[in-house]
Amino acid sequence: MKILVTGSAGFIGSALASRLLELGHVVIGMDSFLDYYPRKQKENNLKKINNHSSFKFYEKNLIDADLGEVLPKVDVIYHLAAQAGVRASWGKEFSIYADNNILGTQILLELAQSWKVKRIVYASSSSVYGNAVRYPVKEDDPLHPVSPYGVSKLAAEHLCALYGQSTGISVLMLRYFTVYGPGQRPDMAFHRFIRSALRDEPIVVYGDGKQTRDFTFIEDAVSANCQALEKGKPGTVYNIGGGERVSINFVLDMIKKIIGREIKIEYQDTVKGDVRHTSADTTRARNDLGFDPKTTLEDGLQKEVEWVKEFYRL
Ligand SMILES: NC(=O)c1ccc[n+]([C@@H]2O[C@H](COP(=O)([O-])OP(=O)(O)OC[C@H]3O[C@@H](n4cnc5c(N)ncnc54)[C@H](O)[C@@H]3O)[C@@H](O)[C@H]2O)c1
Repeated sequence: MKILVTGSAGFIGSALASRLLELGHVVIGMDSFLDYYPRKQKENNLKKINNHSSFKFYEKNLIDADLGEVLPKVDVIYHLAAQAGVRASWGKEFSIYADNNILGTQILLELAQSWKVKRIVYASSSSVYGNAVRYPVKEDDPLHPVSPYGVSKLAAEHLCALYGQSTGISVLMLRYFTVYGPGQRPDMAFHRFIRSALRDEPIVVYGDGKQTRDFTFIEDAVSANCQALEKGKPGTVYNIGGGERVSINFVLDMIKKIIGREIKIEYQDTVKGDVRHTSADTTRARNDLGFDPKTTLEDGLQKEVEWVKEFYRL
């Protein structure tokens, strides 16, 4: 199949593009290299796939008017391009989120309609739930995002569902729960924690460290995407979580063991927009997609530690 991956220079998009190429698909990657974090890391993400004969990359912004004239037509779209990050989404910066996450999605959906795309898989987020009414949270539970980022991801979900209904394109939405592993964004907790620990610098933790998260290893998140290529019910939302809900303090202990030395921790105030807990009920994804996360937190963290060491030469 010919597949477009938006945000293909990013953390998850590049890993997904790589797997799709391994599976024998033709992959069109596009990314605007948003400056939220250094371009160097995104170029590094692309290194492993750039020379693949079935991969073509376009440095393009979704909100560029001429997108449809530049990109080759495709059968399937994985839509991962977005301005990520909860903390930066307040204040004036929200216009970046509104443009890239909401407007960008609507422009892509119009294009998909004109291309007669068969399937779109949208990268949504656990942040659409906010502080959930119960844990583990189910897909039909109330949605009360507590950050402007979460609102932008929910708005894009609504657009995907709407265009799916009105165009007949089969649209699936995957709500990822904190994805980690090699290539993770530098603003995300594990990446920051490991880098600081290896540099013998204090690890900054927002809050008391007792907050919990359902962490998902990158290759398991990618597998869910590949399963969603053919399986799954059109118009449906799926929770994608690794299934091991642990506290940040537990993760810090594990990092200490993996790197084999003492770490310094500096607890700071909680940041507005961070939820206290996340935990995914993945029954629907298991039943419909065959989702079956394989990587334990310890193994996944070990792999991210190796990657951080190599990337920063630490
Ligand atoms: N990483 C996670 O834990 C997580 C959790 C939930 C949801 N998500 C979602 O998954 C997707 C990928 O996240 P990630 O962590 O890989 O982020 P990332 O920032 O590494 O990747 C996103 C990429 O999209 C590109 N992009 C943004 N706006 C664009 C536009 N208008 N046109 C073209 N390219 C654009 C950016 O340059 C970036 O390279 C995002 O949609 C994010 O909201 C991620």
